[in-house]
Amino acid sequence: MVRRVALVTGGTGGLGTAICRELTRQGCLVVANYLPSLETEARAWQQAQLAEGIEVEIEPGDVSSFEDARAMVASVAKRIGPVDILVNCAGITRDKTLRKMSDQQWREVMTTNLDSVFNVTRHVIDAMVERGFGRVVNISSVNGQKGQFGQCNYAAAKAGIHGFTMSLAQEVATKGVTVNSVSPGYVATAMTLAMPDEVRNAIVAQVPMGRMGTPEEIAHVVAFLCDPRAAYITGANIPVNGGLYMS
Ligand code: CAA
Repeated sequence: MVRRVALVTGGTGGLGTAICRELTRQGCLVVANYLPSLETEARAWQQAQLAEGIEVEIEPGDVSSFEDARAMVASVAKRIGPVDILVNCAGITRDKTLRKMSDQQWREVMTTNLDSVFNVTRHVIDAMVERGFGRVVNISSVNGQKGQFGQCNYAAAKAGIHGFTMSLAQEVATKGVTVNSVSPGYVATAMTLAMPDEVRNAIVAQVPMGRMGTPEEIAHVVAFLCDPRAAYITGANIPVNGGLYMS
């Protein structure tokens, strides 16, 4: 069986970890990208996965930089092989109401959450088209669909991902490459744990299912889209939000 190479940006994070683990279970050769400044943490993360029998490669790279993304993709291609599956999962929050938001808080979120999708995808897409197979899955958010108090930056970046996804999907539709997005709702990770308890509780109270999602529930949908059999789904957005926003 051919082992497809899957690159997951932000692969050592809350959602990224579950996605790496699920894709490994599905038989992919998975590479988790991490921020170069977090080398020690990434190595410890890799060892922790290995202790559970899950073998994942790791690769540094700041995906908010076009040049770093280029070097990262080149290194993965050289060390492991060309990327068949790209999951753009790297993301941060800098929550503030717009009236208090600094230029830096806007920029950091836009470069890490949206520019990164261009930066990394731009460097993998030619090889996918040439080989006639590719899967790009972009992690967006329910808040890119409905907006969220305190998240003008984050919601704008996540909404931008939908436009990117649908456009690229059209460009490569005849080449065996699918491009989709997954929009998680509120999932139990460090990102949502960082929210003030009362704010988080109030939001979870509005979720029809009455609970947060688990990273594994997101990873399952990502892996489904990455499967070769999901060949006729492209330009789609799959909401995984417990019913918080229905469209
Ligand atoms: N709608 C309307 N008014 C609201 C509100 C809401 N949802 N939330 C707060 N307010 C009101 C408050 O009642 C308060 O009113 P008063 O001034 O009259 O008392 C006022 O707005 C507070 O405004 P501030 O500018 O002072 O805001 P703050 O500094 O207290 O807090 C915030 C702002 C940090 C953004 C806080 O609202 C917050 O953390 N919001 C949650 C943002 C969020 O959902 N983040 C998701 C992170 S996880 C993630 O992003 C993953 C994913 O994809 C889902």
